Amino acid sequence: MTTIRLSDGIVKDDVLVVGLASKSSKSSKAGAVSLQIESGDLAIDTKVLMQALSDLGATGKADEVIKVPSTSTRLIVFTGLGKASTHYDHEVLRRAAGAAARALAGNSSATFSLPAKNAAAVKAIAEGAALGSYLFDQFRGSTKSAQKAPLKSVTVHTDLASKTDVKSVAKSAEIIGTYTNLVRDLINTPPSHLTPETFCKAITDAVKKAGGASVGLKVSVMTDTQLKSKGYGGIIGVGQGSANPPRLLHISYTPKGAKAKKKYAFVGKGITFDTGGLALKPALGMEAMKSDMSGAAAVCAATIAIALLKLPVAIETWAPLAENMVSDTATRPSDVITMYGGKTVEVLNPDAEGRLVLGDALVRAQEIKDLDGIVDVATLTGAQVVALGTRTSAVMTNNPEFSSHFMDVTKETGEAFWPMPLPVELRASLDSPVADLANIGERMGGMLVAGLFLKDFVSDELPWLHLDIAGPAYNESQPHGYTPVGGTGVALRSLVQLAVAASA
Ligand code: BES
Ligand code: MN
Ligand code: ZN
Repeated sequence: MTTIRLSDGIVKDDVLVVGLASKSSKSSKAGAVSLQIESGDLAIDTKVLMQALSDLGATGKADEVIKVPSTSTRLIVFTGLGKASTHYDHEVLRRAAGAAARALAGNSSATFSLPAKNAAAVKAIAEGAALGSYLFDQFRGSTKSAQKAPLKSVTVHTDLASKTDVKSVAKSAEIIGTYTNLVRDLINTPPSHLTPETFCKAITDAVKKAGGASVGLKVSVMTDTQLKSKGYGGIIGVGQGSANPPRLLHISYTPKGAKAKKKYAFVGKGITFDTGGLALKPALGMEAMKSDMSGAAAVCAATIAIALLKLPVAIETWAPLAENMVSDTATRPSDVITMYGGKTVEVLNPDAEGRLVLGDALVRAQEIKDLDGIVDVATLTGAQVVALGTRTSAVMTNNPEFSSHFMDVTKETGEAFWPMPLPVELRASLDSPVADLANIGERMGGMLVAGLFLKDFVSDELPWLHLDIAGPAYNESQPHGYTPVGGTGVALRSLVQLAVAASA
């Protein structure tokens, strides 16, 4: 865990992180750029540094991190902010702090002094630094000692350090960092070690560590035997091909002391490994399917974070967990399953398994009375990645107001979402000749078809959001900003922010 501190005094750390921006200079020749050091509320002597930066070929572009030895502190680290501005976008600050934190692995502490004019900007810097301080080394053996430990302590330098709201955002950033890193750990844990059962154990332990009932959290787990007897045909059908039996995890958060201002249900797809089942996926790239429980990890960790933030919002969270495997007990294409609640589904493609476990969990979640909304989070379709790429998640809904509320409140988190339609005419493609519906339909617009399948399991009266995070959940290319390779932890900040907005 990375501790976040605030300071308005002298820099005590050996390492100081400041911003570097570029501005097009009018005086010199066309196209030439000049640099601007952005050290926020800290005055530093820039003259010598400017020459060094120019000699080093600094540009101030995002994701550029330049370390310069110094006499005042041991090291000054310049992190790119892009174009110079009088008001930096908070996500620019978050990413710049994150890129610097990643580059500082191996150091134990650093002070970050970046332009921050208000509490929200301080929060973004603190979050970026916390999110960039991540290492997954649990499964290293002989190479473990060669790994550089992330920053243990981050100090954000700001004149606002003594303000109450600024102190509270520093604490929030620490919690967000810790629980995003839990999501990342769960995603990165190999499926040999993360099964439906061990996922439940990891979350149960995390809830205990957070304070359990003393912070308003309760966890319960349904076993495969219980799921079978209660008629959870979706979760059972997907999990029945595996030696690691399925589970349904439930976390309930009831705020202590204050009355809940809103009550939301969260549901997260928890496929601990998706081989595709009898619709076996190609070997190339299959390893990424260890990330198919990213939605479940995000909703569970977000719920714990919301409890630790003491937000006056009730949260009921479900994570349907299963391993989608190939075996003689696996669901066959054309098998018909009966979902929780009684709807029958013809499983035409066992690789469209996420919607089956989610259908059960969505129906179960709606048994909770007086919900104000329900949000599911899932690495649901390859079509999401085709449509929006690896950095923008999709939002689908039965209630445009809830969707635009979500888009508004999550803007500040820096997580990119984009609204997608659920065109009614595509629904007919999910009709089955033998069952109530089929689990696949029209191939074109596959993300929307998956959304329409889920819509069948949600009451039209209950505001519902479906977040398809298939691309953004798992970073298979290069690290950038505060995002490492592997599990990213996407959706956690937005879920937390939804609860923050409901608390106001
Ligand atoms: N887990 C996958 C979706 C996925 C793909 C997530 C790429 C992350 C990256 C999901 O279970 C799946 O296999 N979906 C199928 C659905 C199809 C059979 C209708 C897909 O998208 O190909
Ligand atoms: Mn699949
Ligand atoms: Zn899947």
